[in-house]
Amino acid sequence: MYVCLCKGVSDKQIRNAVAEGACSMRDLRNTLDVANQCGKCARDCKSLLNESVLAA
Ligand code: FES
Repeated sequence: MYVCLCKGVSDKQIRNAVAEGACSMRDLRNTLDVANQCGKCARDCKSLLNESVLAA
């Protein structure tokens, strides 16, 4: 499922990024370029990030 439509980034890519060490929105922004365009995905990215960090 796409989380960031502007950049075509899926929840799987976000989970993978967390598995590879991303632990903040800044990390996700830098590695996947999410939430850098319209910003609408920021909230979803953040909850996915929190969820994935807790599960890791
Ligand atoms: Fe992610 Fe627009 S949907 S920046």
